[in-house]
Amino acid sequence: MSTTIPTALDENNVPAKPRLTVVGTGYLGATHAVAMASLGYEVLGVDIDQAKIDRLAAGEVPFFEPGLPELLAEVLETGRLRFTTSFDEAAEFGDVHFICVGTPQLEGSHAANLEYVESAFTELAKRITKPALLVGKSTVPVGTAERLTDIVCLTSPNPELVELAWNPEFLREGYAVQDTLHPDRLVFGVQSEWSEEMLRAAFEPILAADTPVVVADMKTAELVKVAANSFLATKISYINAMAEVCEVTGADVNLLASALGYDDRIGSRFLKPGLGFGGGCLPKDIRAFAHRAEELGAGQAVAFLHEVDAINNRRRRRTVDLVRELAGGDLKGKRIAALGAAFKPNSDDIRDAPALDVADMMRAESASVVVFDPEAMDNARRAYPQLEYAPNFAECIRDADVVVLLTEWQKFRDADPEMMGVLVARRAIVDGRHALDADAYRAAGWEYRALGRPAQPATVRLVEDAKDQVSATA
Ligand code: UDX
Repeated sequence: MSTTIPTALDENNVPAKPRLTVVGTGYLGATHAVAMASLGYEVLGVDIDQAKIDRLAAGEVPFFEPGLPELLAEVLETGRLRFTTSFDEAAEFGDVHFICVGTPQLEGSHAANLEYVESAFTELAKRITKPALLVGKSTVPVGTAERLTDIVCLTSPNPELVELAWNPEFLREGYAVQDTLHPDRLVFGVQSEWSEEMLRAAFEPILAADTPVVVADMKTAELVKVAANSFLATKISYINAMAEVCEVTGADVNLLASALGYDDRIGSRFLKPGLGFGGGCLPKDIRAFAHRAEELGAGQAVAFLHEVDAINNRRRRRTVDLVRELAGGDLKGKRIAALGAAFKPNSDDIRDAPALDVADMMRAESASVVVFDPEAMDNARRAYPQLEYAPNFAECIRDADVVVLLTEWQKFRDADPEMMGVLVARRAIVDGRHALDADAYRAAGWEYRALGRPAQPATVRLVEDAKDQVSATA
């Protein structure tokens, strides 16, 4: 192991350019490590998974994230980014350690599983022999940082050298590089001026670009993340609740959403109706937040999150209902083309993916479901081996009785309804993401249905009503 030359310190014991480690090299950590190295920092990526580390060190990103492989290649070339599985090396190297390990939902509970976070903090704490800031980036229940501070003090042989801070991360998959390099804001949850100065030094180029920074206590910093994700989930479920009302009234949720979105106070982002949210963050974060609030005796304050979750799950069942309707009332033996598996486009992430949930519900009704996704096929196959997978888009829709769009990849949005019509058995499509041109599909002879939209466009209905009135009076 090489001995690291100590970094030069200013009068506040803060290095001008701290050496960074990033513990946990999943979606969040790998992106953070690469992005920080691209900003000129020396970075060591740390993971317990040797295979993952080997792939990253060889310039291979183990998941799909646009722009990340190119940036990884660039920074590996500079020598500023290295990878290791050794916590000894990490502790010796780093001034600021970012903990980016996962906090998945605990099996059989809504609580977050904190074992990986705890282990990352203690593994480092045990080995710290020089001043170091341990910064949590993982999404955790409020109060975790305080508890970890106690654990670190007990574990570290040199507790006076270690401090904890919390710096939540807001990156979206698919835009991870952009969101890391140009965040809307930075949040520093700190316990001392030294921690704040260390974080300012670690984010100097981002702060120099006038990125707003909110300096807070650690509890507030922990809460910012779950509060933000809860708000986003609520906004999506709000418009999807309106879709349910539209369904029973014959109104059109798409038009409703555009009209609402023009109000600046409401805004059109995250107001897209459809199959709802999934992924590794929103679903488990709102559940863990509600769970934690209940533990703290504040369950009532966020009881609405249970409804947000319920609305979201109802959209999946309603999508199956629409497909069944188009299939003539029974899915048994019908060939259904399921377009998409990832929880959203530009990602191969299938965690809590609405698409696969819907596909599996249709299979459970004895439909023959064929799935195709441009990037998530391997992950989907591993998690849902019971589903059938097509090698490409054309084979997926060939001879289908009903096509259902579940993830709005550009490839699916751009497809020509006329050419698709030649391949299918019946021209019937459910647009689970409000992503297709309904008029173009109808003009090409497709029966088009979408959640929260009437079966017939309003104008057609008006003309037909008028015709009925004429024939009734004739
Ligand atoms: C989310 C947060 O946006 C991000 O800030 C946080 O750091 C992690 O969680 P991500 O999980 O990558 O990011 O996905 P996001 O783009 O937020 O989409 C989440 C889900 O909501 C997707 O399934 C998407 O299809 C769905 N969605 C999004 C809608 O159904 N309607 C919308 O209007 C927006």
